[in-house]
Amino acid sequence: MDITLSVLKADIGSIGGHITPSESLLSRVESYVQNEGSGLLIDYHIAHTGDDIALLMTHTKGENNEGVHQLAWDAFQEGTKTAKEQGLYGAGQDLLKDAFSGNVKGMGPAVAEIECEERPSEPFVLFMADKTEPGAYNLPLYLTFADPMNTPGLILSPNLGKGFKFEILDIEHTEADRVIELKAPEDLYDIAALLRDNGRFVVQSIYSVNSGEQAVACSTTRLNKIAGKYVGKDDPVALVRTQKNFPATGEVLAPYRIGHYVAGFMRGSHNGPLMPISQRDTVSFFDGPPIVSALAFSVKEGKLTEPVDVFDNTFWDEVRTKVSRKAQEMREQGFSGPAMLNYSELEYGGITERMEKLDDEFRIE
Ligand code: F6R
Ligand code: MG
Ligand code: MG
Repeated sequence: MDITLSVLKADIGSIGGHITPSESLLSRVESYVQNEGSGLLIDYHIAHTGDDIALLMTHTKGENNEGVHQLAWDAFQEGTKTAKEQGLYGAGQDLLKDAFSGNVKGMGPAVAEIECEERPSEPFVLFMADKTEPGAYNLPLYLTFADPMNTPGLILSPNLGKGFKFEILDIEHTEADRVIELKAPEDLYDIAALLRDNGRFVVQSIYSVNSGEQAVACSTTRLNKIAGKYVGKDDPVALVRTQKNFPATGEVLAPYRIGHYVAGFMRGSHNGPLMPISQRDTVSFFDGPPIVSALAFSVKEGKLTEPVDVFDNTFWDEVRTKVSRKAQEMREQGFSGPAMLNYSELEYGGITERMEKLDDEFRIE
C-alpha cells in the first residue's frame, strides 16, 4: 500500500517566552485535526518540542496535497486563537501569510513528507528540533548514511552497502529550488564540502541506492527569507525511515551523542550544542540550548503505533550533561568570535543600524 507521511510544524505561541505551547493550545489543535481530518487522514499524532507544535499525519494523498496542508494550516490558525486568548507569547508567529494558497511551502510552517510503498513492517523516526536551523541535521545524516564509523550497516549489510543518494538544497538561492544529487560513498568529499556549511547547504532528502526508496525527508524552510526579516528560527523537522534497506534506528540516533555546535540558541544568533531531549523536557538555559526530540513509530496501513520517546533513556543523561558543559563553555565568551554568528547570519536587524551609524564615525588615517 502507498502511504504518505507528512509532518508540518509551526510555532504558534508559547508560555513564558519562547518555551513551550500550553496544554489548551495543544488540545485545541488536536481536536481540530480529529474532527476535520476524518475522511482525509488515516491517522495523526500531535507532538511538540520547545515552542513548536508538530502535526504528524498519515494518508494516501501524496506529498504537497492541498487538503492535507490546508488542514494543518487551519489547525494552526485554530490553535493561534487559543494562544491569543491565553496571552501566549508569539501567537501565530510562524503563520506568515494571511490566506492559504495551495500548500504551506513558503508560508512559514516547516514541512517534511515521504510518499512510499509501506513495507510489511515500517519503522521510522520523527525528529523535531527547536532553536536551530535545517542544517543542524547535516552532520548526523552524513554520519548515519555515509560513515561506517557510525553505521556498521554500511559494511555489514548488503542492503546498505551500495550506499545512498543525497539531495542537497542551496537555501541561499531563493528564486527557485537549487538542488544537487550526490552519492555516498562515490562523492563523499563533495558531500562533506557542501554539508560543512549548515547555513547554506542542507540535506533535503536521502534515497537508498539499492532499492531507490526514500529514507529521509527534511524541512528546509528559511523563515527570514519568506518574511524579509527575522521572525524566528527555522526550527526543522525530519522523517527518517529505518531498518532493512536503511540504517538501523540506533545508527540513526547515534550521532546525536556528539552534541555538535549548531546555529540558533538565544535570539537565533549564537552557536550552541544540540541537546537530545525527551518529550518531558524543553528549552531553558539562554533560550536553549538548541534541542532535538525524536519519536520512533511503526505504521501499518497508515495506522500509527504510539510513539517511543527514544531520547528518554538513561544513556542520554550523560550526553545531556556533556552538552550542558559544552553550552556553558561557549557562553563563557559571550559575544566573542564563534559564540555569536557571523554578521550575515544574525537574526536581529538592530546591529545593522548600529554598524551603519558607526561606519560614518570611522576616520581614515
Ligand atoms: C530564538 C528565540 C528566542 C528569542 C528571544 C527574544 O529562536 O526564539 O531566543 O529570539 O527570546 O525574543 P523576542 O525578540 O520575541 O523578545
Ligand atoms: Mg519561537
Ligand atoms: Mg521554535
